[in-house]
Amino acid sequence: MTESDASDISYIKAAKAVDKDVILECINVHKTYLLGANAVAALRGIDLVIKKQEFLTIMGPSGCGKTTLLNLLGGLDYPTRGKIMLEGKDMGKFSDNMLADLRRDRIGYVFQFYNLLPLMSALENVMIPLHFQGVLSQKQKVDRAMSLLAMVGLADRAKHTPSELSGGEQQRVAIARSLANNPAIVLLDEPTGDLDSKTSREILELIRELNLKGATFVASTHDKRVPLFAKRNLDILDGRLVHEKIIEAGEVVSERDIKQNVDQDLDLDEQIKLIKAHVKARGGIAALKKIKSIDDIKVEGDTVIRKSSGKEVSMMQHDLETSSKKIAGPVPVEAKAAGDSQKDLDAAYTEIENITRVYRKITLDKLQKKLGIALKTPLADVIVQAIKKKVFNGYFDGDVFVREMGAEQ
Ligand SMILES: Nc1ncnc2c1ncn2[C@@H]1O[C@H](COP(=O)(O)OP(=O)(O)O)[C@@H](O)[C@H]1O
Ligand SMILES: [Mg+2]
Repeated sequence: MTESDASDISYIKAAKAVDKDVILECINVHKTYLLGANAVAALRGIDLVIKKQEFLTIMGPSGCGKTTLLNLLGGLDYPTRGKIMLEGKDMGKFSDNMLADLRRDRIGYVFQFYNLLPLMSALENVMIPLHFQGVLSQKQKVDRAMSLLAMVGLADRAKHTPSELSGGEQQRVAIARSLANNPAIVLLDEPTGDLDSKTSREILELIRELNLKGATFVASTHDKRVPLFAKRNLDILDGRLVHEKIIEAGEVVSERDIKQNVDQDLDLDEQIKLIKAHVKARGGIAALKKIKSIDDIKVEGDTVIRKSSGKEVSMMQHDLETSSKKIAGPVPVEAKAAGDSQKDLDAAYTEIENITRVYRKITLDKLQKKLGIALKTPLADVIVQAIKKKVFNGYFDGDVFVREMGAEQ
């Protein structure tokens, strides 16, 4: 039996056992949105087990249900049918308050557009979830947030606000924030969705590194480069999981995979770097030995050649240059579904209105805490949007939101 067979079997055994290693489980989950007279079946029977220390990617084209699935996994929305179990407990049976607690303590989120609070420094953004828990002293919070920033390589950017950070740096802050309360699992919606290919790679390497240190991640993506960094990928299509792939140490460098899995849009050097990085992180020297021929990849003219078991396998480099130019630009952002979470946002704005009517001056912490209890909507998102859209009258005086009563009708 080879090493890889052994790990396959232990994986399958472990997946079958309903044990404490299972973090999330979907049982025949359906989600149908009602849009006027139309019903949109966004998820149609998802069965899924996510275990501790996984790095799972869920890959599929725009509109196939990725965001819907992540929202359900994260307790931000409910399935229309089926069950979602978080650490053995049926989330459908939780009260809103219990769900709010769970979202705060057990689940980390990285939303598609980072959703950092623009008024706050990187450090303060990372401290937000720590405020909700209310266990640590201010100094402990600062220390914890600083160590999280250091972990994502941003110790020297702690004082910068999001507008002073690059997209990749903002994403790092969002990742640091998602880990603040030591969640059981971090959900990332299109973590590389609007990053260039080099920055995407760096972010994925960071996620992989954190995963190898023990954190559990589920990332949605429409980008087929992303699963190369993961341990397991599920393809999703029209609301159904259609194909599973366990990504093993070095698997990606088989001839078949060079042809099929390595992104044609990357230029050759990038591909080779990617493959090597992948192998290194997967199992270091052991993996390299298993593959033997990682250094066999060479370029001749327009062709990539790899020698394997005496055979030469080649692959054309055609169109790579134009493709890499194409992806070096901004990655097209998925169109947001009409009405997507608008209802939640509306509810959040109303809630902000209500809260600030009662508390004419309220600290951002307190506002967020109150919102967190009242709503299922991601707080940072809501507040950023509300501030941007000026949907309520007021301003922030440092950390305190001041309601402008005069401006009220
Ligand atoms: N709030 C909503 N109301 C109605 N339809 C929605 C809503 N959110 C998503 N949808 C629809 O559900 C399907 C899946 O959407 P989504 O989960 O956002 O896909 P993805 O993230 O894979 O692009 C799409 O057809 C989308 O238009
Ligand atoms: Mg989406």
